Amino acid sequence: MQRAVLISKHIYREAVDYLAGRVQLDYHDSDDGLPSADLLARLADKDGLICQLTDRIDAALMDAVPNVRVVSNVAVGFDNIDIPAATERGVIVTNTPGVLTDTTADLAFALILGAGRRLGESERYLRAGRFRQWRIDLLTGWDIWGSTLGVLGMGRIGQAVARRGRGFNMRVLYYDPLRQSEDLERELGIEYVSKDELLAQADFLSLHCALTAETHHLIGADELSAMKSTSVLVNTSRGPVVDEAALADALESGVIAAAGLDVFEHEPEVHPKLLRLENALIVPHIASASIATRTRMCVMAAENVVAGLAGHRPPNIVNPEVLD
Ligand code: DGY
Repeated sequence: MQRAVLISKHIYREAVDYLAGRVQLDYHDSDDGLPSADLLARLADKDGLICQLTDRIDAALMDAVPNVRVVSNVAVGFDNIDIPAATERGVIVTNTPGVLTDTTADLAFALILGAGRRLGESERYLRAGRFRQWRIDLLTGWDIWGSTLGVLGMGRIGQAVARRGRGFNMRVLYYDPLRQSEDLERELGIEYVSKDELLAQADFLSLHCALTAETHHLIGADELSAMKSTSVLVNTSRGPVVDEAALADALESGVIAAAGLDVFEHEPEVHPKLLRLENALIVPHIASASIATRTRMCVMAAENVVAGLAGHRPPNIVNPEVLD
């Protein structure tokens, strides 16, 4: 008998095509998530779920639908899913790493360039009809080339950002609780420093860590004060890694120069001060949003759920201990 899978929100067609014929599909083809009662009702007879980072998958949900054996997230991050609870209940959780690495790094770099060279502000200035003449100090910003890039979290995406930094002739420093091998450090041309040194030396600090209890508010008022007043903070990881209110205050009072943000602490809400501040370049969680990458993420999520339900080890299992 074919396994049954719920897709909680709209995904790319290629993934739906892959699933058709392999599983029995219940497709909620909408950008709006299902209210939790509807989600539970539709999961009552399902073996698997393809969900997105806006779906909260907690212990209570898993207890209510113990028939669901595989939860496949269409994202590399999985902080929306209670992993220990899933593991305890024998539920396989999968994610979509790798396929979005370079697309996300491109956007992180766009924010480095855009915040450093004041692109959002410049565009608003021009569109408002304020460009009357060239001026020696009109919208002057901070050089990217030759400056110091700090990468906090040297996983796949951090490495891809470091490569881009080296391409811009930047000195690249990094901190990660797990130091990379000397070979990789040499290949990428990166230097390992302490977190304090990273904060003190980076002209551009780019965050690339997963959201966990340890990384919640990793950057708060104290860390921002430890940064240069000319520095730029870029976040494409998860909003709660930064204390958003503290960041808004730091940008307003000139503790740091600018920020480029793709993610927010209480998405889709954005701190009202950030919406007003000219030195905050803000975009709506689009780091992996190229058509090709989002398509690959959806197909990968579909492959993961099919493999898991067929009794195979899914290629991108997050909690492999569940199979022990
Ligand atoms: C992820 O995959 O975790 C991103 O935030 C969305 O691409």
